[in-house]
Amino acid sequence: MNPEQQKIIQKVADEVKQKLEGEGSGHDWWHIVRVWNMAKHIGTSENADTFVVELAALLHDIADWKFHDGDDTVGPKIARQVLEKHSVSAEATDQVCDIIMGMSFKGAGVKTEMKTLEGKVVQDSDRLDAIGAIGVARTFAYGGHKNRPMYDPNKKPSMHQSKEEYFKSESPTINHFYEKLLLLKDRMNTKTAKELAEGRHRFMEEYLDRFFQEWDGKI
Ligand code: NI
Repeated sequence: MNPEQQKIIQKVADEVKQKLEGEGSGHDWWHIVRVWNMAKHIGTSENADTFVVELAALLHDIADWKFHDGDDTVGPKIARQVLEKHSVSAEATDQVCDIIMGMSFKGAGVKTEMKTLEGKVVQDSDRLDAIGAIGVARTFAYGGHKNRPMYDPNKKPSMHQSKEEYFKSESPTINHFYEKLLLLKDRMNTKTAKELAEGRHRFMEEYLDRFFQEWDGKI
């Protein structure tokens, strides 16, 4: 990456930080920092274009579709404005916006395949932050934000077959582990992410095992 690109990354990072600082649903600035760092790490080991990877990581949640009544075009639109303001080339801008458009999880039965290596890297980084210990914390934070019950033994998980169904879901937070988080390990694109996902996945299984044992007063 050249010094000019480095400067752009810093300016975009400052702007995203200002916008997302203090956000309370688990999509805050520190989520972006973790995804950004992970994307740099995976992007380097996978030989991806790190300028595009870093920009997409920074801007991927600038306007998450889950917070705009299911409209997944808002994110790329806002990202485009930011990139144009900082005079990013049209080619890199298109690549970043394509990644943001394609990357979020939209239900167990909905395919979200990334076309480019850069997209795969950023999607993996975002998904790694949804699992493991951080994933557990973010899932409960998000559930609280949406006023969802933590767990209801009478409500079984449902495998959403469309984006709309997934968006409307009101299932308890624990169900989200079965509807999304435990599926992510097998949906990682890159070798680096697959390896990291193993340990995080195992931790979630242990966590759930304990949760249900404690729920039943067995331990
Ligand atoms: Ni994210």
